[in-house]
Amino acid sequence: MRAMVYRGPYKLRVEEKDVPPIEHPNDAIVRVTTAAICGSDLHLYHGLMPDTRIGHTFGHEFIGVVEQVGPSVERLTVGDRVMVPFNIFCGSCWFCARGLYSNCHNVNPNATAVGAIYGYSHTTGGYDGGQAEYVRVPFADVGPTLIPDWMSDEDAVLLTDAVPTGYFGAQLGEIAEGDTVVVFGAGPVGLVAARSAWLMGAGRVIVIDHLEYRLEKARSFAQAETFNFTEYDDIVVEMKKQTDFLGADVAIEAVGAEADGSFLQHVTGTKLKLQGGSPIALNWAIDSVRKGGTIGVVGAYGPVPNAVKFGDALNKGLTLRMNQCPVKRQWPRLFEHVKSGNLRPSELVTHRFPLEEIAEGYHIFSAKLDGCIKPLVQPSAG
Ligand SMILES: NC(=O)c1ccc[n+]([C@@H]2O[C@H](COP(=O)([O-])OP(=O)(O)OC[C@H]3O[C@@H](n4cnc5c(N)ncnc54)[C@H](O)[C@@H]3O)[C@@H](O)[C@H]2O)c1
Ligand SMILES: [Zn+2]
Ligand SMILES: [Zn+2]
Repeated sequence: MRAMVYRGPYKLRVEEKDVPPIEHPNDAIVRVTTAAICGSDLHLYHGLMPDTRIGHTFGHEFIGVVEQVGPSVERLTVGDRVMVPFNIFCGSCWFCARGLYSNCHNVNPNATAVGAIYGYSHTTGGYDGGQAEYVRVPFADVGPTLIPDWMSDEDAVLLTDAVPTGYFGAQLGEIAEGDTVVVFGAGPVGLVAARSAWLMGAGRVIVIDHLEYRLEKARSFAQAETFNFTEYDDIVVEMKKQTDFLGADVAIEAVGAEADGSFLQHVTGTKLKLQGGSPIALNWAIDSVRKGGTIGVVGAYGPVPNAVKFGDALNKGLTLRMNQCPVKRQWPRLFEHVKSGNLRPSELVTHRFPLEEIAEGYHIFSAKLDGCIKPLVQPSAG
């Protein structure tokens, strides 16, 4: 089969690989019809994720057709069209029993620290991902779901990560009726978080980024007020001015380790890799919410970011909530929102690349060229 293969930071190729075999009775092999590139893939692409091995195939957002099933698989049959959550999870451990699918204890030798994710380095289990013609799906009776007839492929693929994660960010913010919600990051995750904030009763939604074309999308897709942080001496002071000098009720951090906005944090966090990323957007979130406010963090970090304003968060009595998104837990509600038109995920898609041109897709998405918000990838076997 053809598959995207990592060759080192900023280097990837499409190569010939063996079609993955069934390794366990509850595995399925899925022929990928559409995959996506996530902001999280950029952390891998930029060489920021520990234990990203040469030869690894990325891709944790994908849909496809069941090609083969192991002998114990009961809920899928060959030919089914399925959407696969980005988390690999067993469905029965202590954590899965509590809906903490992203924290499953059975799927990663490193499970005390992190669950398992397709195509996301050996830190999260070393499973090859779906930016390929075929992918092995463990626990096939647990993760995948049939794509409903009424759902488009582009909506379905976005429901495997970006949409549930944005929605989850808003859930973590514990939004109350009328709250002012400020979202950091106008990537696909932040845009969905902003749109979701309205669905959860927000009275005012503000989105902050520095890419004008994405802020434009925040206005059209999420009906948000927008602020370009490069236009203010201090975006936190501006947020205070905007909120009667109290601060927002809720902040959602949808930027993560590669945040711009602080030269020192950027150099030490993303260039020299002396810490687990630049926590500047997190610090802005801490400073922008009022005392007693809540922050939902979905931006991804390495284990140890430095100079996080933890003492300020404590003194302000903030609630910080965070996790990798337990995707499947979000699906019932999100299916309703997509069906009713409250959420239109496919409006985020700006680019579609054949798998053979995926290196170009990563480059354009990484460099934020050509108005790129969400790039999809189409393998030819699909
Ligand atoms: N927790 C999860 O389950 C989960 C799932 C998916 C993605 N993520 C993470 O969410 C984050 C966003 O993902 P995405 O796909 O939207 O990525 P993206 O790269 O498309 O978007 C990030 C946005 O943040 C903006 N930004 C940079 N610095 C900023 C700052 N200081 N303040 C405000 N905005 C700033 C960028 O310009 C960009 O528009 C990433 O860190 C990704 O790894 C987490
Ligand atoms: Zn992702
Ligand atoms: Zn589990």
